[in-house]
Amino acid sequence: MIEERAHLVHWCEHSMPMGVKEIDLQHRQLLDSINLLHAAILASWPDPKALPLATHLLAQTEQHFLTEAPYLQALPSGQQRLHELHHKHFLEALQSFILRLSSDIPMSTLSVREQLASLAEWYSSHILNSDRELSLATSG
Ligand SMILES: [Fe+2]
Ligand SMILES: [Fe+2]
Repeated sequence: MIEERAHLVHWCEHSMPMGVKEIDLQHRQLLDSINLLHAAILASWPDPKALPLATHLLAQTEQHFLTEAPYLQALPSGQQRLHELHHKHFLEALQSFILRLSSDIPMSTLSVREQLASLAEWYSSHILNSDRELSLATSG
């Protein structure tokens, strides 16, 4: 089911904050960026704004994972490696999405929205689950 609302993902003040100011701020900014991209695609498709917005989202995400890296040290090594793999696989998915956006092969509205919905789902699920483990490890 494709989301029709302008906001694809919402920041949840109750369940999402980790209590680490810089990470919480970056998470909010990442959700804002994905919502902005979603709103642009909803407004019109194909839209030349989609590629720069997605490229900005990738740069923000790369920076965010670098910010999170030192906090991963607090996790047991297995969990740390798994968390790093989640980041790596997500970057690959986002890079593939960008490659597809930048190709000259047309993409249907349904396809672009499904791909973006899947990326948005990853962000919220990762913040709520994997990054939450990080919060528990760093606070204890
Ligand atoms: Fe994160
Ligand atoms: Fe993470």
